[in-house]
Amino acid sequence: MPSPKVALAAAALLLSSAAHAAFSIDTDDNIKSTAKTLAFDLMSYYDGNETGYTIGILPGPPPDGDYYWWEAGAMWGAMMDYWHYTGDATYNDVVMQAMQAQTGEDNDYQPKNWTASLGNDDQGFWGMSAMLAAELNFPNPSEDKPQWLALAQAVWNTQADPERHDDTCGGGLRWQIPLSNNGYNYKNSIANGCFFNLGARLARYLDNDTYAEYAEETYDWMNTVGFIDEDYNIYDGGHVEYNCTDINKAQFSYNVGVFAQGVAFMYNYTDGGSKWKTALDGLVANALDVFFPENIAYEVACEGQASCTTDMLSFKGYVHRWLAQITQIAPYTADTILPVLETSAAAGLATCIGGDLQRACGFAWHNQTFDATGAGQQMDVLSAVSALLVESADPPVTNSTGGTSTGDYNAGTDSTSSKTSSEITAGDKAGAAILTIIVLGSATGVFGWMSWGN
Ligand SMILES: *[C@@H]1O[C@H](CO)[C@@H](O)[C@H](O)[C@H]1NC(C)=O
Ligand SMILES: *[C@@H]1O[C@H](CO)[C@@H](O)[C@H](O)[C@H]1NC(C)=O
Ligand SMILES: *[C@@H]1O[C@H](CO)[C@@H](O)[C@H](O)[C@H]1NC(C)=O
Ligand SMILES: *[C@@H]1O[C@H](CO)[C@@H](O)[C@H](O)[C@H]1NC(C)=O
Ligand SMILES: *[C@@H]1O[C@H](CO)[C@@H](O)[C@H](O)[C@H]1NC(C)=O
Ligand SMILES: *[C@@H]1O[C@H](CO)[C@@H](O)[C@H](O)[C@H]1NC(C)=O
Ligand SMILES: *[C@@H]1O[C@H](CO)[C@@H](O)[C@H](O)[C@H]1NC(C)=O
Repeated sequence: MPSPKVALAAAALLLSSAAHAAFSIDTDDNIKSTAKTLAFDLMSYYDGNETGYTIGILPGPPPDGDYYWWEAGAMWGAMMDYWHYTGDATYNDVVMQAMQAQTGEDNDYQPKNWTASLGNDDQGFWGMSAMLAAELNFPNPSEDKPQWLALAQAVWNTQADPERHDDTCGGGLRWQIPLSNNGYNYKNSIANGCFFNLGARLARYLDNDTYAEYAEETYDWMNTVGFIDEDYNIYDGGHVEYNCTDINKAQFSYNVGVFAQGVAFMYNYTDGGSKWKTALDGLVANALDVFFPENIAYEVACEGQASCTTDMLSFKGYVHRWLAQITQIAPYTADTILPVLETSAAAGLATCIGGDLQRACGFAWHNQTFDATGAGQQMDVLSAVSALLVESADPPVTNSTGGTSTGDYNAGTDSTSSKTSSEITAGDKAGAAILTIIVLGSATGVFGWMSWGN
């Protein structure tokens, strides 16, 4: 008798029969050729090496285009995974050029250009893609260029700096880096999640306990402050004026995803340590329960209300990629995770019937219809489909299991601090990173209340 999950997968595949004729995921070869088309369509959003545009970024940031700076950093990670899973190196040169073009003046992914919308999470997404390059043995840059591992260390070093961990809320990173940015008074899960994730991965890659100690401190703080609750729900964040007790209870899939992946690295690094196994079980169960109803990815905080921002439209893809990688470094999770990812990927692919070519992907995976497309929607389905090949892919390497990227423990430590205020243009202000609306909404509430009180 098939397990309920297998039966559901079959049902989803039946529903998918309306999919674009050229798309199929029934064999590894078909997954590869489907992913190739999805990758081509995703890359059509990138105009960075056309005259007059900026190398490395997607059109933006608003109002110059739809996409904030961080999303390209995330996309290059998705393209690295695409290469790793399918073997298609078509875009590796573009990815290399883009990842190098945005390292910034101090090679720590804090380019002055984007200071006015620079959050720890924005920097963190670029840092996690650099880390992934090291873990996948993505081609190394020439020796005169910053190396992947050193770039990841630079991001981690700037974020581990005591200057970024003030005592409000008992610790933790703020959302924004410069104090003049909207959201500097907010401490949130994604900023701390990226730092935690990077630390856990650096610990495993370099077999260095310092990174693990910081990661554990961040994880424990997340629990103390209540951003992670006893059921492993992860909430968005809280304001320093309230010592972070005004918790915004919105749950976004990338929060549980980024912590689950980091916890899996800690689990692996500690050779199956029970603290991390318990946490991994809880986070994986939460991710699948909350964000995969009927085993199909669903962005619960915004999708039902049709209120997903451009940022949020890209979260499903990260969660697919991260959950897939968890099955490599914590193999006991594979039986739980992989059937869900298969059902969900099939549903996502079934939305790819839009646009002129009738193959643009949408976001309504739950009912498998095309709604609207964009780089996020394309990246989500590309990520879900390529990660179906995870079982035949190599796990992430370390410095002692074949990793060739060169590190630098001091990378980023003499960076010019971007904490000092910078000139903010109207455009930049609108461009504060993730969850702008929610945070501005509640920040306005806070300040409104405070001035009424005075
Ligand atoms: C910085 O922004 C300017 C104008 O938007 C652009 O021309 C330039 O290429 C950008 N530099 C980098 C490194 O992104
Ligand atoms: C961008 O540059 C890469 C590598 O140099 C090249 O392969 C690609 O065709 C270029 N893309 C566009 C849109 O010009
Ligand atoms: C602020 O929050 C932290 C973390 O929850 C807690 O340890 C600390 O006691 C709180 N401080 C005050 C003054 O309530
Ligand atoms: C750690 O990851 C490796 C793959 O790199 C895997 O073979 C090993 O089983 C993992 N360790 C544990 C405790 O699951
Ligand atoms: C599918 O769900 C989306 C919202 O996610 C909704 O806008 C659309 O009308 C639904 N389509 C059908 C055919 O039910
Ligand atoms: C990484 O491995 C190389 C040999 O493969 C070794 O020379 C180097 O010291 C290692 N780096 C660290 C930080 O352990
Ligand atoms: C471990 O990492 C820390 C943090 O970067 C560094 O200061 C330390 O020197 C490293 N330890 C070893 C033994 O390389």
